[in-house]
Amino acid sequence: MYSKEKTKNLQQLTNELLKKQKAGTASKKDTEPLRDVLRFHEYRYYILNDPLISDYEYDQLYKALEKLEADHPGLITEDSPTQRVAKGLTRDFPTVQHLVPMLSLDNSYNADDLTDFDRKAREITGHGTIEYCVEPKFDGGSISLIYENDMLVRGATRGDGVEGDEVTTNIRQIRSIPLSAKFSDYGLQQAEIRGEVLINKDNFKKYNEKLMEEGLPPLANPRNAAAGTLRIKDPAEAARRNLEAFVYHVSYFSPQKGKKIPVELTTHSGSLAMLWELGFRSPEKEKKVFKGIVPVIKYCNEFESKRDDLPYEIDGMVIKVNDTALQDKLGMTSHHPRWAIAFKFKASQATSRLLNVEFQVGRTGAVTPVAKLEPVAVGGVTVSSISIHNEDYIKEKDLRIGDAVLIERAGDVIPQIVKSLPGARTGKEKKIVFPKTCPVCSSKLFKEEEEAVWRCSNIDCPAQVVERIIHFVSKDAMDIRGFGEANVRKFYELGLLKDIPGVYQLDFGKISGMEGFGQKSVDNLQAAIAGSKKQPLHRLLYALGIRFVGETTAKTLARAVNHILDFKKFSLEDLQNLEDVGPKVGGSIHHFFSNKNNIEMLQELEKLGLQLKNEKKQLSTGGNLTGQSFLFTGTLPTLKRSAAEAMVEENGGQIVSGVSAKLNYLVVGEDAGSKLDKAKKLNTVKIISEEDFLKMIRKK
Ligand code: IVH
Repeated sequence: MYSKEKTKNLQQLTNELLKKQKAGTASKKDTEPLRDVLRFHEYRYYILNDPLISDYEYDQLYKALEKLEADHPGLITEDSPTQRVAKGLTRDFPTVQHLVPMLSLDNSYNADDLTDFDRKAREITGHGTIEYCVEPKFDGGSISLIYENDMLVRGATRGDGVEGDEVTTNIRQIRSIPLSAKFSDYGLQQAEIRGEVLINKDNFKKYNEKLMEEGLPPLANPRNAAAGTLRIKDPAEAARRNLEAFVYHVSYFSPQKGKKIPVELTTHSGSLAMLWELGFRSPEKEKKVFKGIVPVIKYCNEFESKRDDLPYEIDGMVIKVNDTALQDKLGMTSHHPRWAIAFKFKASQATSRLLNVEFQVGRTGAVTPVAKLEPVAVGGVTVSSISIHNEDYIKEKDLRIGDAVLIERAGDVIPQIVKSLPGARTGKEKKIVFPKTCPVCSSKLFKEEEEAVWRCSNIDCPAQVVERIIHFVSKDAMDIRGFGEANVRKFYELGLLKDIPGVYQLDFGKISGMEGFGQKSVDNLQAAIAGSKKQPLHRLLYALGIRFVGETTAKTLARAVNHILDFKKFSLEDLQNLEDVGPKVGGSIHHFFSNKNNIEMLQELEKLGLQLKNEKKQLSTGGNLTGQSFLFTGTLPTLKRSAAEAMVEENGGQIVSGVSAKLNYLVVGEDAGSKLDKAKKLNTVKIISEEDFLKMIRKK
């Protein structure tokens, strides 16, 4: 797609455009070069996974293009990188007909099945040895993409194979799908491409964490997440979920007038290479071509052992006859082509029986039902208990005690109950009864409006206390090594630990006498606890387990204060002025810092030697902005709010949360609201633009 030469030129162009952007001298004639450069960096990031510039620099170039296009709307093109974003909601997804029916694949599970497939193919074609192309079978939602005159004109889901839903707007949010591709270089006027939309394991995990944080049941597997996202009505939400796409088949094409079929399309491996050259993410690096079925079987087995190391889910391999003329000869049944077969990896589904349901209480008081199952092996591990999330989930899946249930564990994903198998019921199954009181402390349970989760109302509930401490010491929080879940429970049960400050008041004399605690492990634990006192403020903020405060919000919060107790003075409005803090998150933070017990706990932690000040802020006194306070309002022309705030801090300045006499500079962007009015009235605040702000930083 990009030769060495082209790459070099584009890198050079990137530097020039970045310079122009900084100096504010980008002009109309830079529009197309900016687009080329952005497409190139999207390709480096989303297709090659090898970016050449930082996210920040990419954002700068993107904003420069956005600005030029806003100033000269006539220059906007359909395939501009800015044109993926869609505003508003999609009303419906019209049904569309596929150019060629989207067939399924026949399945094979072992070497014998594959040998059989090869024998039949040889019989039908009369060939002694057949050449095969082998590639991964991606586990997501299948899509069809139509390109006409080099432009993406339609994206659709598989649907029933004949008709699917038109989901072009959501498909355009996927950065690994080019909005335009030079099919004309291959003499093609129209092409229909098949592929699979995926969500990678990391993004899936993050997305599920967010759902759970909001009290919603997590999605069962990345496949459901990807397929579901394709049909989501809010394209901005679809964009946030960071879908990816692999393409693996040219299902239809029509040459331009007078042009012949390109040679690339005479083999499957050639079409994958063509798609790769056109800037798609095809399995070009993963594919392998073999003569005969024996090496195919070997490659499938080899790939299976790599499955868990891949960033995305695959559920098998696909073996395709490489020569497209032979494919035509083999044809298809009404269900699947005879020239391709899926080799499915070991079943990651199994059936078991739901023996009982226990109710666990989490750190926020959420009462979670956990299904106890007859132990069963799925995808390499034995599963005997699975969270079944909440009452609505139980109803939706119609789960009953005694039911036979289908369990799934895709790759390294948490096992899930896919469904109950009502056909196997005997009539002896029992309804799952949700408790009315906390199973640990017997306090009343309550449910918030629009939430599916029941919660224990007693914040001193032993289960909540223990879970809060477990969260506090965990890896992403205070990261106290050697202080795992089991130890927290043990120390709590023995009365050695009763709350978060207790972590720093442990009686090591007593612990060293306990079973399993040699002197060395006690010394290590003691050192790890002492070391955690110096963790940065954002970790402490996250460790406190304030509802809806994940790691990102904790970082935003930490940047906003000099000392954690400054939050006592923050109004709900001050909190909502912070990036990504809405009424729900802001309300929860406000609630936490309005509680006397929480304040006392923080004061106690400070006495015990914990770092409650924002150290970075205290240290950064060397920059141009030392002693000056800043606040940003409105949309800045090029900088993201978080980046601008970080720049203030790096240069020794301070971010304040609201307009007051303490504020020195208000940096104003587009659509600035009440803060600007307030600052104008105050007279003491200097009102400046982003450009002025950047100048202040650059001045040496
Ligand atoms: S080829 C006519 N290749 O698996 C050719 N399919 O179980 C049809 N899939 O519906 C498909 N990875 O959604 C092909 N490398 C791959 C694939 C793949 C995943 C999906 C596809 C298909 C399903 C069949």
